[in-house]
Amino acid sequence: MKRDLITVTDLTDDELQNVFQRAQGFERMSAQERLSLRGKLVGKHCLLLFYEPSTRTRLSFEVAAKTFGMEACVVTGESSSVVKGESIEDTAQTCGAMGFDLAVMRHPNDTAVAEFAPHFPASVINGGSGKFAHPTQALLDAYALWKRDLLIEGLRIAICGDILHSRVARSNVRLLNRFGITPILVGPRQLMPEELQKSGESPEGEELRAEISHSLDELLERLDVLMMLRTQLERHEGVVRIRPGEFIAGYQLNAERLRALSPNALVMHPGPVVRGSELTDEVMKNERTIIVEQVAGGVFVRMALIDLLTQ
Ligand code: CP
Repeated sequence: MKRDLITVTDLTDDELQNVFQRAQGFERMSAQERLSLRGKLVGKHCLLLFYEPSTRTRLSFEVAAKTFGMEACVVTGESSSVVKGESIEDTAQTCGAMGFDLAVMRHPNDTAVAEFAPHFPASVINGGSGKFAHPTQALLDAYALWKRDLLIEGLRIAICGDILHSRVARSNVRLLNRFGITPILVGPRQLMPEELQKSGESPEGEELRAEISHSLDELLERLDVLMMLRTQLERHEGVVRIRPGEFIAGYQLNAERLRALSPNALVMHPGPVVRGSELTDEVMKNERTIIVEQVAGGVFVRMALIDLLTQ
């Protein structure tokens, strides 16, 4: 049955638990046991349609699909007929006519994946749409917390940096809210969505429950998790919203701030990291930084999603 994952709200509470449990099951398998999954989706085809650059999302979906024996076909924006003027709807119908069993799509526009999905006959997974949503990133972030029994009401988690342009922040807020968690969004005023500062509502009228802060230093000693974000210059449209020095002075997680961070707090980042901007080398090397673990977990979470959505 066709099931699309455009935002984390497309999954029920039971399905969220199911994804985490399935992912953990895959993670705990030996290499030999994982080989036995190869026949599961043999003969099926996964389309990876990426209109923006990606290392983690694209590769982990490819690895996940191939682990089940699926063929993965990659199309990038520059190599597709979109550059000749083909619409999203026609692209969906064209790709749909080729018998794909699943599509993963990334696109710079907020609504493109949601526009593609109704015209594509098989399930569609959002691999990142504009600044609107990156559900599989939020799921893999949550998986890292779930494994530590931290995905519970009362978790003190801050998401820091360029919130304005971040689909990761929006998807994480949506997902954390499902677990009764109200994250703190921290960053400079000019990188904070106005609508969140005023009412907590996204432009779509969706209620996002988050606290807003402009001072990372005031938060550090009372956090369980600090998720840092890259400044997404590709979405700034040439406008200088903040000078790099000002951002670093207020919001870079460096050795000094790491010392001020509560001793057991985890440091997360969806990647890619821009070293010297939001994080420094010392933070990358620190044992509380779980960025590489997030990436590894991403393969298992995406395997779980493929398993769920191709049934
Ligand atoms: N986190 C993330 O989406 O990374 P990529 O852009 O490399 O896929």
